[in-house]
Amino acid sequence: MRAVFVESEQLDRQKEFAALAGQILSARYLQPPKAYVHTYGCQGNVADSEKIQGMLLEIGYELTEDLSEADLVLYNTCAIREHAEHRVFGNVGALKHYKARKKDMIIALCGCMMQQSQVAEKIKKSYPFVNLVFGTHVLHRLPEFLYSVLSGSKVFCIEESEGVIAEGLPIHRDGSFKAWLPIMYGCNNFCSYCIVPYVRGRERSRKMSDILQEASQIIAAGYKEITLLGQNVNSYGNDLEDGSSFAALLRELDALEGAFKIRFMTSHPKDCTKELIDTIAASKHISHHLHLPFQSGNSEVLKAMNRKYTREGYLELIDYAKERISDLSLTSDVIVGFPGETYEQFLDTLSLIREVQFTSLFTFIFSPRHGTPAEKMNDPVSAEEKGKWFRELLAVQSEIAAGRTAAMKGKVYRVLVEEKSKQEGHLCGRTDANVIIDFPAPESLIGTYADVQVTESLTWIVKGELLSCGMRNSE
Ligand code: SAH
Ligand code: SF4
Ligand code: F3S
Repeated sequence: MRAVFVESEQLDRQKEFAALAGQILSARYLQPPKAYVHTYGCQGNVADSEKIQGMLLEIGYELTEDLSEADLVLYNTCAIREHAEHRVFGNVGALKHYKARKKDMIIALCGCMMQQSQVAEKIKKSYPFVNLVFGTHVLHRLPEFLYSVLSGSKVFCIEESEGVIAEGLPIHRDGSFKAWLPIMYGCNNFCSYCIVPYVRGRERSRKMSDILQEASQIIAAGYKEITLLGQNVNSYGNDLEDGSSFAALLRELDALEGAFKIRFMTSHPKDCTKELIDTIAASKHISHHLHLPFQSGNSEVLKAMNRKYTREGYLELIDYAKERISDLSLTSDVIVGFPGETYEQFLDTLSLIREVQFTSLFTFIFSPRHGTPAEKMNDPVSAEEKGKWFRELLAVQSEIAAGRTAAMKGKVYRVLVEEKSKQEGHLCGRTDANVIIDFPAPESLIGTYADVQVTESLTWIVKGELLSCGMRNSE
């Protein structure tokens, strides 16, 4: 599909709605009203929320992290697993009491979960205090929706669409040294368990010039790390006519001047090319870390999942990447208990994990999603049994992780110092390979690079001592 861009006249119209909504707010409130935005789900949703926050600030809201003082509450929701949806329903239900105390509070719901018609219907019926529900394809129309709500209407807008791209929306970034940069939206892969293609529309790539411009602005603003986002970044450019590819985009970004690191997620093994791996190996700014979800170590299960690669193909790719990229760190996603998966097939997943030696894994028990092919597949293994397999997998991975962190003892790593640790007087940083190091240091180091020597290894993280600090870059 060729990307459809929202026309600039339409975006200008939204600015007019923002101004009109702002007028209502200033007539209604003496102080700027407060907006509380909570994001569920993946980084794609986080990046959307940064645009939502940008639009809310433009309208005249101030942002708050305290739900109890909010005049507007917005939940940006996720539909990836049943558990994610239950949490949202629970949290929306709890808002009823806040609203009973503050009658003119606006409650807004958006994101992937709302893009499903049965969910929007349930909200309409069972949560009548919700003022605004909008789907993933109309995010840029938030000012218009809020204007209607502030004028006394309820708004439900779930447009069925293959998806659009809206450039130039205001962005309020959450962090001051790590930035998210979406390079494409949607997904064409229809893995048989996954809801994303249904709620996010078809794959569409931003123009390379728009991405490069945003990256330059991010770097000029002093950010140290840019994470490129897409459900399958490897297929970036397939819908563009100018021959752009993900490897080409990475080369262009790597050529930008400045002290910054590039990360990206997520890579799909079927589209991860040797050219891409060579590009990472030859780059200056790209982190030596690959998040490459394998989902299952058994080729038959992979076929039923519609993943379009085999166990052997995956391992071949990993071998090539390990050979070409020094100190490569690999992370992955894996699903346990796909419908029809046998224990023997699950053992193939364990053996793949042992073979690859991932730095860390995101592990999920299969959750049936409405309208996906896997929802209708025969699923004879009990939830209890799947839970047992899941714990077995966690035990294997924690053994691997403990081995990896033990091997870090005594070594020195340059880390981007990210935040305060739970331990008083300590900070946390992340190595290029995405391992967290906890070390005593003054708070002023947050957002800079520091050299830290590892002194102690725990299973998933390590502890260390600061050797030197204040470096401008990661080299
Ligand atoms: N686009 C990415 C993943 C997006 S969703 C990719 O293709 O790798 C993040 C992860 O959630 C997936 O990798 C998968 O492991 C998990 N997931 C998705 N749908 C799921 C489901 N129905 N049940 C359990 N896990 C699921
Ligand atoms: Fe879902 Fe597969 Fe698309 Fe990832 S590639 S978002 S798992 S359909
Ligand atoms: Fe969830 Fe939507 Fe992301 S379903 S994982 S928020 S694309």
